[in-house]
Amino acid sequence: MIAPSILSADFARLGAEVDAVAGSGENRADWIHVDVMDAHFVPNLTIGLPVVESLRKSTDVPLDCHLMIDDPDRWAPGYAEAGAHNVTVHVEAAHDPVMVAKDLRAAGARAGLSLKPGTPLDDHLDTLRHYDTLLIMSVEPGFGGQSFIPDVLSKVRTARRLVDTGHLRVLVEIDGGINADTIEQAAEAGVDCFVAGSAVYGTDDPGRAVARLRERARAARQR
Ligand code: DX5
Ligand code: ZN
Repeated sequence: MIAPSILSADFARLGAEVDAVAGSGENRADWIHVDVMDAHFVPNLTIGLPVVESLRKSTDVPLDCHLMIDDPDRWAPGYAEAGAHNVTVHVEAAHDPVMVAKDLRAAGARAGLSLKPGTPLDDHLDTLRHYDTLLIMSVEPGFGGQSFIPDVLSKVRTARRLVDTGHLRVLVEIDGGINADTIEQAAEAGVDCFVAGSAVYGTDDPGRAVARLRERARAARQR
């Protein structure tokens, strides 16, 4: 799965930017990744609920909301109620992550849990049993266009093994620095869903970039 991050899109033309990856066939994104930042949990400030509500009406591609915010316990369910398909919160920010997952599912969304690059996976395995998606950050959250941190692939491999042996039931997603060069190692490690911002919206043809990334991931996974 490929999830273009609109963080690297032209916000003045957001509807058209999403449509550019909402065509048919291989050019179509599986999810649209929406980076919500609050200038507290991360230093940057981006977009929030009103933009998600508008996008939900303007596209049929499922929305994957990545909340890089403090107190997601309070704010995350609103994104599920707005029609997001998957809502991901940070384990470093949530007060009661098990309750957050329950609230998200009750509001009709899938629940995602994200780990910053330095956050160990092993400490949160029990919590993850309540979640549908594991988002492994491969850059420090806050900004697009950063370099991929290969050390996080050990967490991907562990998660892949736990999923394949039936000990965990999550989709394994990776976010940060994914491009044509880095996607292969992430795919080989066992990622299911790849977020890509600058590698999609930094090109002239975002739809074609989606197709190319998917092709490279598929080839690497089959090796
Ligand atoms: C970073 C965001 C990412 C970002 C990825 O905090 O969570 O989703 O948009 O951008 P690239 O693909 O350019 O690293
Ligand atoms: Zn993100």
